[in-house]
Amino acid sequence: MRITDTSDLWWKSAVVYCLDVETFYDADGDGVGDLAGLAQRIDYLAELGINCLWLMPFYPSPDRDDGYDVTDFYGVDPRLGDHGRLVEVIRTAHDRGIRVIVDLLINHTSDAHPWFRSARESVDSPHRDYYVWRDTEPPDTSAEVVFPDQEDSIWEHDERTGQWYLHHFYRHQPDLNVGNPAVVDELMRVIGFWLELGVDGFRVDAVPFFVEDVETAESHLAGDPHQVLKELRAFLGRRRGDAVLLGEVNLPYEAQTTYFGGGDGDELQMMFDFVTMQASYLAMARGEAAPLAAALAGRPELHPRCQWATFLRNHDELTLDQLSEEERQEVFAAFGPEESMQVYDRGLKRRLPTMLGGDPRRVRLAYSLMFSLPGTPSIYYGEEIGMGEDLQAAGRMAVRTPMQWSRARNGGFSAAEPEQLIQRVVPDGYGPEHVNAADQRHDPDSLFSFIKALVAVRRSCPELGWGTFALIEQPHPSVLAHRCDLDEVSMVAVHNLGPDPVTLSLDVCRAGDGTEALDVLSHQLVAAGDECLELVLEGYGHRWLRLRPEGALDLP
Ligand code: GLC
Repeated sequence: MRITDTSDLWWKSAVVYCLDVETFYDADGDGVGDLAGLAQRIDYLAELGINCLWLMPFYPSPDRDDGYDVTDFYGVDPRLGDHGRLVEVIRTAHDRGIRVIVDLLINHTSDAHPWFRSARESVDSPHRDYYVWRDTEPPDTSAEVVFPDQEDSIWEHDERTGQWYLHHFYRHQPDLNVGNPAVVDELMRVIGFWLELGVDGFRVDAVPFFVEDVETAESHLAGDPHQVLKELRAFLGRRRGDAVLLGEVNLPYEAQTTYFGGGDGDELQMMFDFVTMQASYLAMARGEAAPLAAALAGRPELHPRCQWATFLRNHDELTLDQLSEEERQEVFAAFGPEESMQVYDRGLKRRLPTMLGGDPRRVRLAYSLMFSLPGTPSIYYGEEIGMGEDLQAAGRMAVRTPMQWSRARNGGFSAAEPEQLIQRVVPDGYGPEHVNAADQRHDPDSLFSFIKALVAVRRSCPELGWGTFALIEQPHPSVLAHRCDLDEVSMVAVHNLGPDPVTLSLDVCRAGDGTEALDVLSHQLVAAGDECLELVLEGYGHRWLRLRPEGALDLP
């Protein structure tokens, strides 16, 4: 590892925190979270220790897909504030050492976007080829829709011009034709604009769908969609050398490799690891490490400047679409047996603590595991305090409830009347009376303090972002043991996914006489020299042990 790499590729040692401005903190008391409120809460994020803030869409939008339906890629939704407020957020975050990435929508616009309004005026509109059209009656595409509760085709007939337009998501989100160079130019200007305002990169929405759009387009303009990704990445790099593209690509590993640009590593630098995420839930449901070990063993080797982003929860349904039908049913049975907890036949509406019956040992095990895996951990607001969900909210909205700051009315989120809130606060046993940031911040035994410790350890152990990963053989089916090695340090992590204690003897200390093993969560020296590691793991227990030269300073 060279020093230039560690500082330029900051995102390889980052911890990402995702939030939606409208549900985070409402400064003006109108019931909707806003940028002024977020600016006031940046110090909370700095205290937690995260160093990359991902802002979900804040652009002007009819809000029919929670802001993912955009009418102006350059704008700020006036309910949330304006560009001045956004720049204050970015500036404050930077001042606290936090980078800011924002959602970039390249797959679609809202049907209220001026491009689409123009496009549907006539087949001769200058914006007609910004979207994907077909002349003939489409075949049955009901199996391809993303939201089967609302849509039964990915094509929508447009009365005025008699053609059909493509929309993988809702019919009010027409897909852009990124095979059209004019659209690519538009997207580059959008990227350039936000970079000039100070953002540090983008979470790129729905990437495989844009690739399909280009492949589907009958228009002669359509080209190689991966070439488009390479162009966007090259443009990004020219404008800001250390900016990052973190893509949403929920596909099997083999297919994901191509979105990294394969051996060239010249497309997305990071991608969420949906495979490991889904395998983690199966492993937790069974109390057995095997599914997770298999997923990790199947991870393709990445270009050294690429990285996985690990996560347990995001703002969408907890998708289990890459598991087999039986495996998915196992996870449903363990973590969301009722129909009201499931959505789209492929996912769950719940957050982690409710799925784990509120058992703090299991919740901590899950986060410890996620943070210890090679990759960049990403958490979704409220996870650090163990928020639950509102099952009465429709579909994915169940996990998009207001942040719970305190026991105060509306969980301290807003001074508005409860009926005025953008969304109601979680009402039950996971509501603000029981789960809130104010109570947890100064409690050393709280989940907040635990996650804060994980963030700190994660940030001080570059071997997790940069090192070589290997599973460690050991005989207990409930245990996952792995190590990450970098230069003269190694991290060894052991996690017991089962309820019973286990005793382990790990043959990992023979690196040389001068090696010692430090438990980085308790700061205890565990072994030294060529001793084997003898460990007792409680049910759902976990340990992180750093092997390093004797007496080394505990710093990256
Ligand atoms: C992504 C987002 C999701 C959104 C969809 C359409 O999958 O994560 O929330 O609905 O794209 O934009």
